[in-house]
Order: sequence, then structure tokens, then C-alpha cells
Amino acid sequence: MHFTQSIVGLVSLLISQSVAAPSDLRSRDLTSFIAAERAIALQGALDNIGPNGSAVPGAGAGFVVASPSKVNPDYFYTWSRDSALTLKMLIDEFIFGNTALLPYIWDYVHAQAKLQTVSNPSGTFLPQGLGLGEPKFQVDGTRFNGAWGRPQRDGPALRAIALMSFSNWLINNDQKSTAKTIIWPIIANDLSYVGQYWNQTGFDLWEETLGSSFFTIQNQHRSLVEGAQLADALGVTCTGCDQAPEVLCFLQSFWNGEFIVSNINVNNGRTGLDGNSILGSIAIFDINAYCDSPTIQPCNSKALANFKVLIDTFRTTYSINSGIPEGQGVAVGRYAEDTYQGGNPWYLITTAAAEFLYDAVAQWKARHNLIVDETSLAFFKDLYPAVTVRQYNSGNANSPFAQIMNAVTAYADSFAALAEKYIPADGHLAEQFNRDTGVPLSANDLTWSYAAFVTMSQRRAGQYPASWGSRDAAAPPGTCAGTSTQGVYAPATAAGAPNVTATCQIEVVFNVNATTYYGENIYVIGNTDDLGAWNIDNSLPLGAGGYTAERPLWSATAYLNAGESVNYVYVRQENCNQPYIYETVNRTLTVPACGSAGITTNDAWTGPLGTSGNC
Ligand SMILES: *[C@@H]1O[C@H](CO)[C@@H](O)[C@H](O)[C@H]1NC(C)=O
Ligand SMILES: *[C@@H]1O[C@H](CO)[C@@H](O)[C@H](O)[C@H]1NC(C)=O
Ligand SMILES: *[C@@H]1O[C@H](CO)[C@@H](O)[C@H](O)[C@H]1NC(C)=O
Ligand SMILES: *[C@@H]1O[C@H](CO)[C@@H](O)[C@H](O)[C@H]1NC(C)=O
Ligand SMILES: *[C@@H]1O[C@H](CO)[C@@H](O)[C@H](O)[C@H]1NC(C)=O
Repeated sequence: MHFTQSIVGLVSLLISQSVAAPSDLRSRDLTSFIAAERAIALQGALDNIGPNGSAVPGAGAGFVVASPSKVNPDYFYTWSRDSALTLKMLIDEFIFGNTALLPYIWDYVHAQAKLQTVSNPSGTFLPQGLGLGEPKFQVDGTRFNGAWGRPQRDGPALRAIALMSFSNWLINNDQKSTAKTIIWPIIANDLSYVGQYWNQTGFDLWEETLGSSFFTIQNQHRSLVEGAQLADALGVTCTGCDQAPEVLCFLQSFWNGEFIVSNINVNNGRTGLDGNSILGSIAIFDINAYCDSPTIQPCNSKALANFKVLIDTFRTTYSINSGIPEGQGVAVGRYAEDTYQGGNPWYLITTAAAEFLYDAVAQWKARHNLIVDETSLAFFKDLYPAVTVRQYNSGNANSPFAQIMNAVTAYADSFAALAEKYIPADGHLAEQFNRDTGVPLSANDLTWSYAAFVTMSQRRAGQYPASWGSRDAAAPPGTCAGTSTQGVYAPATAAGAPNVTATCQIEVVFNVNATTYYGENIYVIGNTDDLGAWNIDNSLPLGAGGYTAERPLWSATAYLNAGESVNYVYVRQENCNQPYIYETVNRTLTVPACGSAGITTNDAWTGPLGTSGNC
């Protein structure tokens, strides 16, 4: 996670197939470590959820805080993606038998119903669902106005997936009408959003790249397939679910013949090898899936080929991995070119690598066979050198099939063991660990790190969520098309959403001439929520993308309510912790009536200038 302000315009196999991994001492140690850490991780996630989470006082009921960390980095916000992934984990834990988690699930349901209607810098909820693409909110569920990589289109899909798991549990437990009247309206909004906007660019899960993200598209596809099946079961209509085959068609274009290019429709100078691709496949894991499913499951040959190429890049990227041979687990990060906080391995991606392999083994065992092809051959060579291109059918404990399963399981365990090596004695999970020393760094107690540890532990323990119906997904059409279905959006009032009505909004471009020094920023603040209601933390950042020697232009676009009268001023944010500088005028603006064209201000900074603190 993270988004940098610059976008605004500123300025020898240790474990070989010959070792019987499951019964050796090392595995027993790993098993007891994982059991202990799983409990810590579950509690760590719960501690970050309002209203009772001990690490996050001030968070509202049902809001999952990304981390208690408030400085360097400040993650004391709630993200739609992290929240949905965390709730998916909690809902699966609940279904696996931890009934004490039910209140957290209901809090999330109510919180998200309200959150869907909150106007935010990505737009309003009505009439077009645009606000659903907002990645991040304050921990009390109010809008966050700061500069950010938005929209992010995975959030609605992931929330729908989490809520659909809960809905299926309700149906199986004689509470179908609750699923239909209370939960489905929330899901329906999210699926409408997916069906309407899947073919538009958005920011990726790392919040850095504006384009099309494999993780996003994979989850969008799952959400639409699962949505159509749930709608059937409930006797309702899913608007947008008809887009699933086209989304699946588009998903195929991320494969370049050798690996999965995680971000396309983008030119950012990266190879495209990215942990994004592992996280995508484990999020759409279906124990019933066929390995040749175009949904690209963990046991899919392309996913396996990608796994090898991606993991091998990290062998040479981080010095803590040096000397670890192919076929043995390493510390895994986001992507080789990463520089955020120094560009380090992440706990949640290292455990995701283990989870990916446990998933694949579970799928082969469930299918009772494994087909090795030219695409996946290199992956298996590292683990079982005698492998050839052929079908392996399950057999006795000494069969090649069983030996390969043991080898892949041992490979999975080696990633989990590597995570163990770098998890501190108290079991707390930060976001990252140092590439040279292995010391934890960046945000402490990252909720997503905890959620990822628990889902990995579930798979290792043989706990698999129910099938989401991947076998019944319609095949992609022969030729792909960029299509869209107009969504239907309505507040989920039965779950507690306010009965908002569509507001007519007009585009207002705030342009101000303001000469600034490098490191100084400009914001606009005013008396309406859209302009931060005089709270500097919620003021709207301007961008300097159009700043030239001829014209020191700072600019921002906002959508304001038609006909309203607004008071506003510009504010300078100084470097070196110097105080903000406000303009000395009182500006007013009347937003034109509904149906009018947008307007642009032509302002010039009026007030004292700032000077660099030269810190
Ligand atoms: C939070 O605490 C209150 C008061 O003890 C309790 O009623 C509620 O169920 C708790 N919420 C969760 C999610 O545990
Ligand atoms: C839209 O879909 C078409 C057809 O799959 C694809 O070529 C195009 O890259 C997609 N664009 C975006 C932004 O998703
Ligand atoms: C919400 O408002 C609309 C129109 O303002 C009204 O028709 C509808 O009945 C209201 N729904 C609820 C649940 O109050
Ligand atoms: C700015 O002017 C408006 C009237 O145009 C007034 O209502 C408001 O109080 C003034 N605000 C300040 C901070 O002076
Ligand atoms: C801002 O600068 C541009 C270009 O120099 C100029 O045309 C415009 O009048 C300026 N605006 C104000 C309010 O001074």
C-alpha cells in the first residue's frame, strides 16, 4: 500500500523430493509455529477493527484500520481492499467454526452499507456509482480528501466476494431472506459498479500504477460469476453479471507467453513481474476448479510458470535471499523495481507464495491428477528433476504423483519457514522486512499481513472455502470487446444506509496562479464537505502538472452541488513542518444550476508567501 504525493504533479535444494517432508522434525516445528502464529495473527487483525479493537481507538464499528501506524507511514485509515480481504478471512474462519466472529461480520455489513453512500473525491454514489471506486476513508467512515491514486476498481469486487461468502452461509443456514433483503442490496451495487467500469483504467493494489491490473480483473471476474449464481439462488437480478465472459476474455491478455504482466494499459518501465499475480490467483482459488480453467487458478500452468519467473527475480533482488537455490522458498516483495521504504520483501506476499503452492497441491489432489506441459515444466524441474511433459495420475505413496505433491508441499513449507525466520519473537507482523537484515519495517501490525497469515494457515491445514462456481463460468468469446452494462444503484437501506438521493453536481476547476518553491504545495479549503469543511486534513490538494515559467498554475477538479454558494481560500503547505499559510481573502463562488456547463476559476494567490525551511 502506498501512494506518493509526486503523482499530484509535484514537483542445492534444501528440501528435495527425496526427503519425506511431512514427518521430519523441521515440519513438526513449522506446524507448531504456524498454529501459534495463526492465533496471534487472528487477534492482530481483530485488534485493528472498530469499535472495540484495542489498537485502533476512534475507529467506527465495522471499520478495519490498515495499521495503527499514524506516522511514516500514516496508515490510520480504512481501505476498501484491505477491509474486504480481512473480512473474507474472518467470514471463512467463522464458517470453519469460529462462531465468535459473527458480530464483526454484521458490523462490517452495516458499515459498508453506509460507506457506499458517502460522497468522496472519486464521485458520488448516485446516480452512477462513481463513489464506489474510492479506495480509502477516514476510520469513522467519513471521506478522505487527500491526493491519492484513485479510483481503485478492485474494492467493490472484493467486498462483494466477502459478502457473497456470508450470504451463501446464510442460505445454507435457513436465513435466505436475510441474505436477500439485507446483504444482496449492498452486493448488487458493487456488482453494478464492476459490470459498468471493468473496462476503464484504475490504480492497482499497490496504488501506484494507473492501468489495468491482473489482480483487479481476476477478482472482478470471480465477483460477476459468483454474483450471477447467488442472484439465481435468491431469485433476484444481477445487473452487470452479464459482463463476466468479456472480463474473462480480457484476463487472458495479461499472459505474454512467459509470465503474467501484472499491469497492462500502462507504460511504467517495469517488467510487469509482480506479486500482484500471486495474490490474484489465491484470491480466486476454487477447490473445485479445473487446472486449465481460464480463470488462472494456482494449479494453472501459466500461473506456475509465472510463479517460477517471478520468485526467481527475488532470489537476486534481496541480499537476505542470496545463496538460496531455485526450488527453495525466498523472501518475496511486490516487484523487483520497488523502492518504497527501500523496496523490501513483504510478509503478506511471502506467505501468499506459500498459500499459492498449498492451493495448487490441493487442486491436483482433488482432481487426482497433474498434467505437466511445456509451460509448467520449468517450475517442476526445480522440485522434481525427473519430471517430464505428461499426465501423472494419483497412485500410492511412492508414485511419482505423490512424490511431486510432497515436493511442492515442501516448497510451500519453505516459504512459510522463511516467513517464520523473519517474524519477530512476539509474532507481530509489520508490512515489510529489511532486504539486507530482515528486520521488520514500515507500518507495524499491518492488518493485511495478519489476514494473509491466517489464510495461508487455513490452506496448510486443509481448510478450503466452498467453490465459487468457476466450473460454471461461461467461456470467453472468441474475440474480446470492451463492453459495459449500465449499473443500477440504490442505497442499501435495510442494512442501514441512509436513503440518499441523487445530487446534481457541476464540475468546478480551481485554477490559481501561485508561485511556489520546490517542496511547497497548494490546497483549496472551504465551507462544504467537498472542500474539507475548513478542516485542513480534508482540504483538496491542487496539482502543479500545468505549472510553467510563464504561468505558475496550480489546479484541481471538484464536483460541487449545483446551485450552492461556497466560501473558499487557498492554503500553502510549507516544508520542514512550518505552519500552513492561508490566503487573506474570503473567496465566494456560486456553483451554476443543474444542467449548466462546468466552470473554471481564475484566481491569483492573495496573501503572504512562504519560504523554504531548508531542512
Ligand atoms: C464491542 O463491544 C460491545 C460492548 O461490550 C459489544 O456489545 C459488541 O458486541 C462488541 N463488538 C464486537 C464486534 O465484538
Ligand atoms: C477494454 O477491453 C478491451 C477488450 O478486452 C481491451 O483490449 C482493452 O485493453 C480494455 N481496456 C481497459 C482499460 O480495460
Ligand atoms: C427513499 O427515498 C425515496 C424517494 O425519496 C422513496 O421513494 C423511498 O421509499 C425511500 N426508501 C426508504 C427505505 O425510506
Ligand atoms: C466570508 O464571506 C461570507 C459572505 O460572503 C460570510 O458569510 C463568511 O462568514 C465570511 N467568512 C469569513 C471567514 O470571513
Ligand atoms: C494567471 O496567469 C495567466 C497567465 O499569465 C493570466 O492570463 C491570468 O490572468 C492570471 N490570473 C490572474 C487572476 O491573475
